[in-house]
Amino acid sequence: MDKRLPLLIVEDDAALLKQLKWSLSDHECVTASDREQAIAQVRRHTPAVVTLDLGLPPEPDTPEVGFAVLREVLALAPDTKVIVMTGQNDRANALKAVALGAYDFLAKPVEPEVLTLTLERAYRLFELQQENQRLAASSAGNTLGNLITGDAEMLRLARMTEKVAVADASVMILGESGTGKELFARALHDLSSRKRGRFVAINCAAIPETLLESELFGYEKGAFTGAARQTQGKIESAHKGTLFLDEIGDLPLALQPKLLRFLQERSIERLGGREAIAVDVRVVCATHREPKAQIAAGQFREDLYYRLAEIVLSIPPLRSRVGDTNLLAHHFVRKYTAANKRGSMSLGPDAIEAIEAHAWPGNVRELESAIKRAVIMSERNLIQANDLGLPTSEGKSAVLNLSAIRERAEREAVVRALARSNGNVTRAAELLGVSRPTLYDLMARAGLRGGDAERPEPS
Ligand SMILES: Nc1ncnc2c1ncn2[C@@H]1O[C@H](COP(=O)(O)OP(=O)(O)OP(=O)(O)O)[C@@H](O)[C@H]1O
Ligand SMILES: [Mg+2]
Repeated sequence: MDKRLPLLIVEDDAALLKQLKWSLSDHECVTASDREQAIAQVRRHTPAVVTLDLGLPPEPDTPEVGFAVLREVLALAPDTKVIVMTGQNDRANALKAVALGAYDFLAKPVEPEVLTLTLERAYRLFELQQENQRLAASSAGNTLGNLITGDAEMLRLARMTEKVAVADASVMILGESGTGKELFARALHDLSSRKRGRFVAINCAAIPETLLESELFGYEKGAFTGAARQTQGKIESAHKGTLFLDEIGDLPLALQPKLLRFLQERSIERLGGREAIAVDVRVVCATHREPKAQIAAGQFREDLYYRLAEIVLSIPPLRSRVGDTNLLAHHFVRKYTAANKRGSMSLGPDAIEAIEAHAWPGNVRELESAIKRAVIMSERNLIQANDLGLPTSEGKSAVLNLSAIRERAEREAVVRALARSNGNVTRAAELLGVSRPTLYDLMARAGLRGGDAERPEPS
């Protein structure tokens, strides 16, 4: 186990605290003797393990303050393992603590060997869980086949997709054009129990209104002029598989009640047919429009929307994903140099800057085709901004200056903490898990001023 992970000892009896600290001295120990200190230490260190004395001031003879601390610790640091220390004969409270989420309990006086063993198990579990979370986060990309991302929101959507895939619920995927909606739709199919069935896609915006109905529902021979033979529609051909209705926001109003009827009855009638054919499909749809606005404007039926959008996945645009533009750019360079059998190529610094400065309104699709074109056209092995059709950003210093990024993040956190604490510096420092002098330093660096009453005493 990694003894460098912090251990927080919460104990109001000074002598006992000293003794515990001494016997656990090979751990990275921090201590607290009351509720406020305990919470401040948790904010500051996010300990792996906490030993918590249930009887704390101002009511050391009841477990209430201890329970309150336990709740707060678990709310702040859900993975932290809390070992509760209770009096002899205090089994009821020990059990209650475990019910509240404590990892384990020990009765005082605690035998050193028992404490060591319990701690070891708690550390072990904490580390295992951290490891699992790391694995889950890094494997999300793999399970979703071709999805390249390091962005937290995209990874959350990937995990959600894995969960949702196995349910038969209808899914609506929203997002600007080129954000990867179809990628998610295919993942929903590939990760579902229908993966051996067909994935049938139909683009509602690409087919003229007059043909769309027969495309969707199929027709019998002689249903209309030119209907030479019986033909299956897309819905029917997706039987036992997934039906992907792309650009659903462009489905003509006249067809909307017909689609709704299918979703309610799960059967269709071909055009010119009289027989109801039962169809078992999972419906996934996508649109770059805003369905809520379309409903308000009377362009989309609300009842149909709720049938289609049992689950909604909102894919963020590329410009709001952290780090992804760069990641994808390099990925596409590798992909297209391999496909075009070119020797290794790379992105020059001005290309990288230009890529990061561009807003990519066409999202991943636009980025992909820009790189593809550059790989084909560039005569050198170093791709430059103008190979990508992007302006060279002159004078703009590197966006990847770590200290500048850190400063910006720090300033934001400080401003937020001060806002939340109503300008109270002591409280804001607690929220941030830093000391008051440190916060004053941060504020000075960020050009922020604290309330006058709270100026630090000159030392
Ligand atoms: N995160 C990603 N990683 C790798 N490739 C991606 C990613 N997102 C999108 N792509 C690729 O970008 C292209 C566009 O994606 P896709 O067709 O899924 O977007 P879309 O949202 O359906 O776009 P549109 O609204 O224009 O139909 C595809 O070639 C897809 O493989
Ligand atoms: Mg698409």
